[in-house]
Amino acid sequence: MSDSYSLETYIEDLRRIAGEAGDEAEIFERVGPLASRLALQTDWLKPEHHEADQEQGFGVHLLHEEDDHSLAVFVICWLPGRGAPAHDHGTWAVVAGVKGNERNVRYKRLDDGKKPGHADLEIKDENTAGPGELVCVRSSGIHAVWNDSDAITVSLHTYGRHINHTGRSVFDPDEGTQKEFIVKVS
Ligand SMILES: [Fe+2]
Repeated sequence: MSDSYSLETYIEDLRRIAGEAGDEAEIFERVGPLASRLALQTDWLKPEHHEADQEQGFGVHLLHEEDDHSLAVFVICWLPGRGAPAHDHGTWAVVAGVKGNERNVRYKRLDDGKKPGHADLEIKDENTAGPGELVCVRSSGIHAVWNDSDAITVSLHTYGRHINHTGRSVFDPDEGTQKEFIVKVS
């Protein structure tokens, strides 16, 4: 018996679930297991998906997005010792580990968000996700991702909308700042 599950089938499932789901909790409940299944069955993974931008610290490879930029699926690989500082996505996110362990730090926002460019964050908790394990982040969620290992890590990221089209933010918790977060995508 085969556990074959293709990227194409995943995208069909995403479209159906996104059309039916009433809220983000339902999206996480239904998309999560499928993302995990696809992450463990890596026929779709190509050698170039392991290429990262040295300046950025990670490589963002687009696998799919709809014509209106919704339902975006990426492979993101992370250089050893690098990561993404505290950020939001401006949409829901389902991340499934593919290779290696990635540390996920969740933040709580303490201010009301009314002062432009300013944000007060404190760390809520952190955990590490390995192959097939999930990190689900709500539209309102803020997190950071770090590769603490000495090898490249890879994860499969699914977002409600392409992350360069949501007006999302990157934060500096020490400085209390918030700015626009655009990533280089290949
Ligand atoms: Fe993220």
